[in-house]
Amino acid sequence: MTRLTRLSVYLVALLLFLFLSISALSKYQKVDSPTVSKTTNHDSNQQQQQIYSTKYLSWLPHGEFTDQHEAFRNAIRLGKELDRTVIAPMLRLGKPVSWQPFDSLAQTYSLTQDKQQLSEKCRTASSATNDQACITMNDWTEIPWSSLFDLKAISTEFGIPIIERTQGHGWGTNETAAGLRDPIVDVAVVDVLTFIENATFYSTNDGKWGGILGGRQRIVKQHQEQQLPLKTVIRPEQWSSLQQRQYIQFGALSSTARYQVHSTTQQMALRKALNRHLLVSPNQMAPLKQQADQVIAMLGGVNHFSSLRLNFAKVIALDARVNKDSFGTPRTTMDDLDTQTQKEVMDAVVLEVFGDIPINQAVSAALPVNADSTLASVLLEHQQAPSSVSSSPLERRRLLDACINYRQQIEERYPIYYLVNDHIPSPASRPDIYGPLLSFFPCLFTKNDMKQWGELDMTTWIFSHPALQDKGVDYERMLDVMLDVLIAGQGYSFFEVPNSPLTRFMSWQRRVVPAEHSQ
Ligand SMILES: *[C@@H]1O[C@H](CO)[C@@H](O)[C@H](O)[C@H]1NC(C)=O
Ligand SMILES: *[C@@H]1O[C@H](CO)[C@@H](O)[C@H](O)[C@H]1NC(C)=O
Repeated sequence: MTRLTRLSVYLVALLLFLFLSISALSKYQKVDSPTVSKTTNHDSNQQQQQIYSTKYLSWLPHGEFTDQHEAFRNAIRLGKELDRTVIAPMLRLGKPVSWQPFDSLAQTYSLTQDKQQLSEKCRTASSATNDQACITMNDWTEIPWSSLFDLKAISTEFGIPIIERTQGHGWGTNETAAGLRDPIVDVAVVDVLTFIENATFYSTNDGKWGGILGGRQRIVKQHQEQQLPLKTVIRPEQWSSLQQRQYIQFGALSSTARYQVHSTTQQMALRKALNRHLLVSPNQMAPLKQQADQVIAMLGGVNHFSSLRLNFAKVIALDARVNKDSFGTPRTTMDDLDTQTQKEVMDAVVLEVFGDIPINQAVSAALPVNADSTLASVLLEHQQAPSSVSSSPLERRRLLDACINYRQQIEERYPIYYLVNDHIPSPASRPDIYGPLLSFFPCLFTKNDMKQWGELDMTTWIFSHPALQDKGVDYERMLDVMLDVLIAGQGYSFFEVPNSPLTRFMSWQRRVVPAEHSQ
């Protein structure tokens, strides 16, 4: 009896071994199959072919907030498609890093974006005064995405694990993020904006590259001289050849259309969620959210005000008639322009705002203010008073009260605006320039008003916040855009001149789109 048991245990073990080796072998074969390209480093991978228990992807951040946000969304889509843990670099606020081909972007990321390394290097007097990276060191900072956005919801709803790289700037085999299961030994670099061969990495079985542009020689030469991103794409079926790789390092990932995925129901659900509630509202920093809510309440509450963002520097840059003076010297801000040209720019901006705001608001704004109202009398007084008086905190507050009252009692669509602009904090103090805008939209308020009324004070909490410990940077300025997003996101409409990707981002903020607005 015991002999029989021993025999059967032995047989079962043998069968198990056979089964395991066959399945392992078939995995090897898959990797060896002709659909996979043979790059130089692939051969070395072959000796250590193994199934990694956890596989990762990451990317190199660049650009303004909206570029970085788009890259993160993209990484999440790809995390779902490729069933990988997403390693998220930190969010950079302030002075952006411009797009660069992979190698330079990687170098910029690891060498100049590490504040610790940078401050050590900049301690010596010579580099502090000569090195551009040292001079601009306090113009930017990095914070973990999770200090602003709810990342857990992404993992909970779609099962995509996210690890934040909150320490160091090492990627690939030098990954510095904490919480990885195994050391990284196998890294595949993919950047279709830089490497034309990455768009064809499934390639042909003889190791030649698709034949696009007539051969590899020319391709390599081309991307060495490259200044602009390539326009190649990865198609959904190509991903399979990267299936076994442990770590995929992308370059700039903000171009969604270039990294295509299968349109599965899960992907569609994910896309919908990313346009509605996932990674949409920077509402996780409690004191910041509280400040925004306070401003929203002042402006009349959720959906009772609208937002206007005027980016004059971009308007000027786009206008060939004003962006150079008669000697050809570039003019970049409103302050570089003479008063007459400032007025022309302002007129153009007002026209554009009028052309694009919701029609009912435009009509309400164009109608004369009811002469019997408090608003009419306050406006008349302000017209007659010097601007130093009418722009005083007390008078501004009287105006706000009159505006809210007008909406409540007389014309519920009369627009109250939250204005963000890159020129001056208080447009009411410069009626000579802002007159055209203020005559159409007298109920126009800014952060500066809120500060003067004591309704907005970032200094009380910033220094004690654990995520904001980069000494030397002006966090109030760094977080400006996030505060604006939180405020404007709860308004009735958002409009910016010139239009930028921020408009698309803002459209996701309001979960309930007012009926008139959606038509
Ligand atoms: C990792 O660090 C080593 C040593 O500093 C460097 O030679 C190598 O290029 C780095 N690898 C990556 C992927 O950054
Ligand atoms: C992408 O192109 C780079 C540069 O040629 C190469 O090193 C890398 O292995 C390529 N990635 C893939 C997945 O083929």
